[in-house]
Amino acid sequence: MTTDPATYLFIEGETKLPEPIAHYVEQATFVISDDLLFLKNQDFFLRYSNQTLSLQLNTQKQALLFSIDFIGGKSNHRRLYGGGKKQPLAKACGLDKHPSWQVFDATGGVGKDAFVLASLGAKLTLCEKNLIIYNLLIDALARANQDNEISEIADRITAINGDSVEVLANLIDEQKPDVIYLDPMYPHRKKSAMIKKDMQVLQVLAGHETINNVQLFEQAIKTVRKRVVVKRPKTADTLTNHSPSYCVESVNTRYDVYVK
Ligand SMILES: C[S@@+](CC[C@H](N)C(=O)[O-])C[C@H]1O[C@@H](n2cnc3c(N)ncnc32)[C@H](O)[C@@H]1O
Repeated sequence: MTTDPATYLFIEGETKLPEPIAHYVEQATFVISDDLLFLKNQDFFLRYSNQTLSLQLNTQKQALLFSIDFIGGKSNHRRLYGGGKKQPLAKACGLDKHPSWQVFDATGGVGKDAFVLASLGAKLTLCEKNLIIYNLLIDALARANQDNEISEIADRITAINGDSVEVLANLIDEQKPDVIYLDPMYPHRKKSAMIKKDMQVLQVLAGHETINNVQLFEQAIKTVRKRVVVKRPKTADTLTNHSPSYCVESVNTRYDVYVK
């Protein structure tokens, strides 16, 4: 899978790039540039410094630097104080009653939901189709793997780069997951200054594709063993014209659960 247009990579003070970033440079999917003037005129580019891969988003007003961090910040807070298996996401995925269920997160994004599920003990495969987001994710997982406290959680997540519609269609029976989790992009009506940094990044890189959502849902229902869970804004319509078996609600979010 290639990124379009070419993605530039600025390397700061590092001599050796980790795999697979080095692999994508070899393939010319990521093109190294040290011309900061040129890079500042691109919509975005990748930066590698302090053993961290970041995305620099050049908005009209400012440059936003974004990387994924499972060790500190919000991920850590949610892991420690997020409500454990009683939180709506865990209940919707059935982890409160079936902790050993295998989960397939078909819209991986920046891995926040996947990390919550893995921190509750779930083993999961996360699939992300955008190559840049996927690289930011595996870079964060590699750093998490070096951390004593959370390496065990990161170990439960297998990240793959691909289109989940195809990946799910090609699973053999033994590989079929108990739960498929979908959190498709939803059009944001807020002004960009009010949108969280990770959402801005996702919107720029992943856009608001909606045709894919119906296909993804149909394929998920076909493949799953136990249930498909779709995350929606609380007052949004269902993703397709299928009615959910039931819903689990939290303050701003609704999880539509489709039991097979
Ligand atoms: C709203 S984000 C998901 C956020 C994620 N739940 C999290 O916690 O960070 C949706 C993501 O799904 C990805 N995506 C959409 N359709 C996909 C597909 N068919 N296969 C794989 N990834 C897909 C997009 O590239 C985007 O990164």
